[in-house]
Amino acid sequence: MNVHAPGSPGATGDSGLTVRDLVVGYGPVAALRGVSLRVPRGAVVAVLGGNGAGKSTLLRAISGTLRFHRGGIASGDVTFDGERISGVEPSGVVARGVVQVPEGRRIFARMTVEENLRAGALGVRDRGANARARERVLGLFPILAERSRQRAGLMSGGEQQMLAIGRALMAAPRLLLLDEPTLGLAPIMAARIAETIQEINAQGTSVLLVEQNVATALALASHAYVLEVGEVALSGAARDLAGDDEVRRRYLGIGPDADGGASAPGTPDAPGTPDVPAERRTLTRWSA
Ligand SMILES: Nc1ncnc2c1ncn2[C@@H]1O[C@H](COP(=O)(O)OP(=O)(O)OP(=O)(O)O)[C@@H](O)[C@H]1O
Ligand SMILES: [Mg+2]
Repeated sequence: MNVHAPGSPGATGDSGLTVRDLVVGYGPVAALRGVSLRVPRGAVVAVLGGNGAGKSTLLRAISGTLRFHRGGIASGDVTFDGERISGVEPSGVVARGVVQVPEGRRIFARMTVEENLRAGALGVRDRGANARARERVLGLFPILAERSRQRAGLMSGGEQQMLAIGRALMAAPRLLLLDEPTLGLAPIMAARIAETIQEINAQGTSVLLVEQNVATALALASHAYVLEVGEVALSGAARDLAGDDEVRRRYLGIGPDADGGASAPGTPDAPGTPDVPAERRTLTRWSA
């Protein structure tokens, strides 16, 4: 199956992110049971799955933050551009160009917007790179310039998500890990975040996007993996998954004989699928 994004013709087997046979546990609790995936350089790849499937665990394993959750990698490895990053300190993973926006945004609520952005750039020594990152972030999210002196915790959920993404971009990542960036947002704000993810990718940053919103994720990604209880149950080109009867029925809530709807993921301006009821667009639960 072709996992190379159309925009990355030069991608080799080693460029981008490679996760191999990852087994992860929290003490005796097995959360990932042999997960493998690829994010080719330049691509947007989606990881879908219901609650507890292991999506956040996967991102933590990549970013080196598992230990903060009392978890650990039992076997398998993660490489980025051919270099092993599993076992590397979180700050080292960031320095190698892989930055995570954690679930639930986790901005510093008592700090100002500006202080949050500066915190994202702490590891960046190069002033020029810093200025370019700031310019990029404020270009993507002008509201962050307008609110620079405001306490971050006073902003709306959508604005806080923008700040969380902006803070991550201050470290000038080559690969951005996004954990459910549209969760809990009003549809219009979720659509704005989705558009911004596309723009970030168009600017040259690869994205590994964890989502329960299947329609949004399949509209943005070139390739997707579905996690079920710690294993990859399904993977393929996003276009194929969005058009697959089984996926449409189980994950998008559309019958095999339904037409229209989510069949064409090439509508990035409107990532939500308007004719699917909102409550059926998420992967909250399903049976294997
Ligand atoms: N800190 C932890 N300690 C123990 N078990 C955990 C911990 N974090 C997650 N788990 C368990 O690991 C499994 C995977 O959880 P994870 O948070 O990765 O799922 P998820 O797909 O991100 O779910 P959600 O959609 O609810 O965010 C679940 O069984 C969960 O209960
Ligand atoms: Mg999660």
